[in-house]
Amino acid sequence: MLRAHGFSLSTRVIAINGLLFGLGTALLAFSPATVSSRPLWSEVIVLAVGLTVMFVANGLLVGGSLRPLDRLVGQLDRARSTDPIERLPVPRSGISRALAESVNDLLGRIESGQRDSSLAALAAQEAERARIAQELHDGVGQSLTAVLLELGALADHADDDTAAALAGVREATRASLDEVRGVARQLRPHVLEDLGLRSALAALTTDLFAHGDTHVRRGIMPGLPVLDDAVELVVFRVAQEALTNVARHARAQTVELTLNQVGSDLVLTVGDDGVGIPRDAAGTGVRGMRERAALVGGSVAIGRREGGGTQVRLVVPA
Ligand SMILES: Nc1ncnc2c1ncn2[C@@H]1O[C@H](COP(=O)(O)OP(=O)(O)OP(=O)(O)O)[C@@H](O)[C@H]1O
Ligand SMILES: [Mg+2]
Repeated sequence: MLRAHGFSLSTRVIAINGLLFGLGTALLAFSPATVSSRPLWSEVIVLAVGLTVMFVANGLLVGGSLRPLDRLVGQLDRARSTDPIERLPVPRSGISRALAESVNDLLGRIESGQRDSSLAALAAQEAERARIAQELHDGVGQSLTAVLLELGALADHADDDTAAALAGVREATRASLDEVRGVARQLRPHVLEDLGLRSALAALTTDLFAHGDTHVRRGIMPGLPVLDDAVELVVFRVAQEALTNVARHARAQTVELTLNQVGSDLVLTVGDDGVGIPRDAAGTGVRGMRERAALVGGSVAIGRREGGGTQVRLVVPA
């Protein structure tokens, strides 16, 4: 129940009404005023004035008690339209103080609940990726390795024509094995755990562009703040998807990756001078970048870069 100065709201309203009824009754009882069995005009006027006075006094007193609540409802309406939801200003005293405090407490708990479940979702996603990576490595990877050895053994005892054919098959198998290993490596960013974000990003660009014609420029701010594991992972995954997109779709001559602290935010950009992203481009990759950023309270903007090409810009709270 809402309490101000120790009185609940209902007690206040009842007390105000009781006081006014009491005053009215006392006035009738102790003043010389009388009401005839058939009221005179003068008596009707006195009664009407008395009623009006009581009505106005009641309105002022009860309205005064409830007005802070109306104000609070208005503030709550306004706060709801902001993202993240703003806390209500807490008045120094009065009925609305207790309510504002309770509402703020509730908002805090909702927000931390949302944060916890976002982090749990991120962790579950990573765990699933790690499991798939392990299975690719230990399952398909091992089988292909066994096939390679088998082919090698067969080639040793085969005639020249068959050996040449087997060499082709071995080459294809080796390429598949490399591909599987590459996918497994991408699925599990162990470089991130082993080397930290800076080196992991460097390794990523080398992995993707070392054998192509695309020139890589990296601008990673020295002395980056120590980041939350979840934030670090999001930066890495968004960079990974954006760089992979450049390698796959952009046909760029240059790709530039920057990572800087701007105020209390960390800003990652991946820009290329390639063909440019279509205006309504929307695939699993683009959606994934947006979803991951949102999990740690960040956002991703993807668009055409000035002077041609594409730019992906991730902003996350550091
Ligand atoms: N840097 C880029 N330059 C040009 N086009 C791009 C670039 N990045 C994305 N695109 C375009 O946007 C589309 C959507 O990208 P998105 O990453 O969502 O999907 P995808 O790369 O095709 O598939 P995946 O789900 O494997 O990532 C791409 O198919 C491509 O046409
Ligand atoms: Mg993609």
